[in-house]
Amino acid sequence: MSTSEIQLKERIKELTCLYEVSSIIGNVELDLIEETLQAVAHSLKKAFQYPENTFVDFIIDTISVSSGDYFPNDLKIQSDIKIFNKIQGELVVRLHNSDAEEINFLNEEQLLLDNVALKVGNLLERIEIQKNQTALKRQMERADRLSILGEITAGIAHELNTPLASILGFAELLKSDLDSDKKASDDLQKIIDNAIYSREVVKKLMFFACEMPQEMKHINIVPILKNAINLLDATFRKEQVKYLVKIDAEELWLRADSIQLTQIIFNLLINAIYFSPKDGLVTIEVYKKKKQIVLKIYDEGKGFDLENLDKVFQPFFTTKPTGDGSGLGLSVVHGIVASHKGTISAENNIKKGAIFTVTLPEN
Ligand SMILES: Nc1ncnc2c1ncn2[C@@H]1O[C@H](COP(=O)(O)OP(=O)(O)OP(=O)(O)O)[C@@H](O)[C@H]1O
Ligand SMILES: [Mg+2]
Repeated sequence: MSTSEIQLKERIKELTCLYEVSSIIGNVELDLIEETLQAVAHSLKKAFQYPENTFVDFIIDTISVSSGDYFPNDLKIQSDIKIFNKIQGELVVRLHNSDAEEINFLNEEQLLLDNVALKVGNLLERIEIQKNQTALKRQMERADRLSILGEITAGIAHELNTPLASILGFAELLKSDLDSDKKASDDLQKIIDNAIYSREVVKKLMFFACEMPQEMKHINIVPILKNAINLLDATFRKEQVKYLVKIDAEELWLRADSIQLTQIIFNLLINAIYFSPKDGLVTIEVYKKKKQIVLKIYDEGKGFDLENLDKVFQPFFTTKPTGDGSGLGLSVVHGIVASHKGTISAENNIKKGAIFTVTLPEN
């Protein structure tokens, strides 16, 4: 073959490769990225002058694809793989020079490599974008569910509130009339207790749905937090749970409703105490970060089962035995935090136990 014929053959191989790579990448299933890179590597290998001695490696963050063993004397060319303009890996082609022959890469081969690296970078960008979209969609679906539940709940709570008040009022009237009849007033007391319990549930539901009037003021969270912890001191001791308060400032100001803020702290601490083992430690931390007040509560309990993690803020979700909990605490907290334009998240501690993180904007 003449030199120009050889050159032409090489060009055709390169073009074939580019065509193949484009169609592999164009038809890719986004969760089969490793297989895709393998196919690209295979196609690229064929485009080089000495395919049987050429090896292609993708070295990217979490993925590494290689088409052959590494020899110390291999000749090498490489091209960066960029995702959103940041170098996130490299595409390396090695030429195994077995007989110390006078062989080397062609300039065109480097260009081909750059071209393929660019295409792979674009593919990885597409995957990244899709991942973000899926996460966002999931988040929105969750927010949607919670807000629909919130509306329904608000309606029910509102409807129940007035008749409950009547039940309670009349039962109390009757009880004072029937003072002499022990049996009847015992029964009435049961009605009253249950009505009070129901009223508490309705109150929580209204909190969850943010139907409670809100009084936003410029307040210092530090004394509110200390006060709430003091009120729970007896509960901590009764349950034999220790606590540690980490506050690095005497004053941390924000715009919030102080009663609702206490409600957040109470619910999170009562959960933390409930799920703590004997002698477990609950750590309460509050600090300012950028324009946010961050409240973190750690415990040393059993933490969350992963499949429950995104259910814990839903109303009526509880893993407590019947009678112990209504599953409303965290949905109340979620509602309050949302009405303050803050965020709340739950996660497992690496060591053990649960971590709740609440952020509330300063203003
Ligand atoms: N600190 C924690 N550690 C482990 N699991 C927790 C913790 N806090 C909450 N959970 C899980 O989230 C669920 C829901 O909590 P939530 O406060 O909403 O309801 P509850 O505590 O079960 O009942 P209620 O607060 O109405 O008395 C709990 O039942 C539990 O499964
Ligand atoms: Mg609770």
